[in-house]
Amino acid sequence: MKKSTLLSCFIALLASCNQQTNSTYQLQSQIDSLKQRLSKAYKPGLGEFMAGIQVHHAKLWFAGNAENWKLADFEIHEIMEAIDDIQQYEVERSESKEVAMLLPAIDSVNHAIEQKNVTEFKSSYIFLTNTCNNCHKAVNYDFNLIKIPDTPPYSNQVFKSEK
Ligand code: HEC
Repeated sequence: MKKSTLLSCFIALLASCNQQTNSTYQLQSQIDSLKQRLSKAYKPGLGEFMAGIQVHHAKLWFAGNAENWKLADFEIHEIMEAIDDIQQYEVERSESKEVAMLLPAIDSVNHAIEQKNVTEFKSSYIFLTNTCNNCHKAVNYDFNLIKIPDTPPYSNQVFKSEK
């Protein structure tokens, strides 16, 4: 091979290397800016998930007592979804690991709903409520004391079953 051909091959190789470095650099800066945007994206805090759980916990009581099993089933599933969300989105909060302690109580509420059994519903609801407080105690938030509600949380929703 002629010397000049060898040289131009070498130059071409250098150029392509340089291009490669440029596109790697571009990719890295795109990743960095995406990471920055992601870190600023809004996500609800643990307190907001809890405030949501509080509403469903209250509605669940009135639905179960009214033997409105479809609504009770809906409310307990909303609580289950919130637990999944806490486990997915609140990983950096150490307390989130404890949220699974609700599962046995939730199983028992679900069972009562399936059986359409008000007595079982009431006792499993107390089990659920005690577990809320056990976790609040465990994570030093026991000043957030949860109890069985006296009045429905909203006046614009019907808790009685249609039938
Ligand atoms: C991980 C264990 C854990 C479990 C289980 C748990 N909580 Fe909480 N809860 C917390 C923590 C931690 C906070 C404080 C969140 C914060 O930093 O804002 C809290 C806060 C709250 C608040 C205060 C929110 C406010 O805006 O005043 C309410 C209400 C609440 N929880 C209701 C419940 C109910 C109802 C249950 C049961 C169905 C429950 N929690 C189960 C850990 C738990």
